[in-house]
Amino acid sequence: MVRDLCFHIVDLVQNAVAAGAKRVTVSLVDSAASDEIQLSVVDDGRGMDAATAANARDPFYTSKGFKKVGLGLPLLEATSQACHGDFELESELGSGTTVQARLEKSHWDCPPLGDLSDTMLQLLVSLDTINLVFRYHGDGGDFSITSDEVREQAGGLHLSHPDVYSFLREYFASELRPLLE
Ligand SMILES: Nc1ncnc2c1ncn2[C@@H]1O[C@H](COP(=O)(O)OP(=O)(O)OP(=O)(O)O)[C@@H](O)[C@H]1O
Ligand SMILES: [Mg+2]
Repeated sequence: MVRDLCFHIVDLVQNAVAAGAKRVTVSLVDSAASDEIQLSVVDDGRGMDAATAANARDPFYTSKGFKKVGLGLPLLEATSQACHGDFELESELGSGTTVQARLEKSHWDCPPLGDLSDTMLQLLVSLDTINLVFRYHGDGGDFSITSDEVREQAGGLHLSHPDVYSFLREYFASELRPLLE
């Protein structure tokens, strides 16, 4: 099992980036009321053929030549199943990949969320050539942001520019953090 669900978010986004995605959508539903956590990551990267997608669920498969194991997807699948949930991987060669995981939030083995606000902020500012779309839905309300809308408002500055970064940090602190408490 892993420390927290943010680990999986980072892994899934890294997988999408490694697959050449230009747009990556991370959606998270976190609800005690409906006792569920639903995570989905959709990308428009190069996708996988059926055989590769089946292999991707095997811990001893990775296309990253410097490694012997690829644990991201198998760990998420095992965690979802351990938590009375399910895991889906849909991929089409040349058009993209969707990974969806559902977990029972109150399950003993359900990992904590982790620092979602900081994780998404760091992903947003570090992926400078990608449109990262993030949507959160919790019992306390919704939050969403896209890199492209921030770029538009930032008038051409990089998202990691100190002024943009400090605006974003404030924005996450005031709009997302309260929903997570
Ligand atoms: N979004 C994706 N688009 C295309 N291929 C993918 C995607 N996600 C995973 N894959 C393929 O599945 C393999 C396994 O992914 P997984 O996350 O389990 O391991 P990894 O990324 O190789 O290593 P780790 O996650 O342990 O750093 C990847 O090496 C890649 O070939
Ligand atoms: Mg991975």
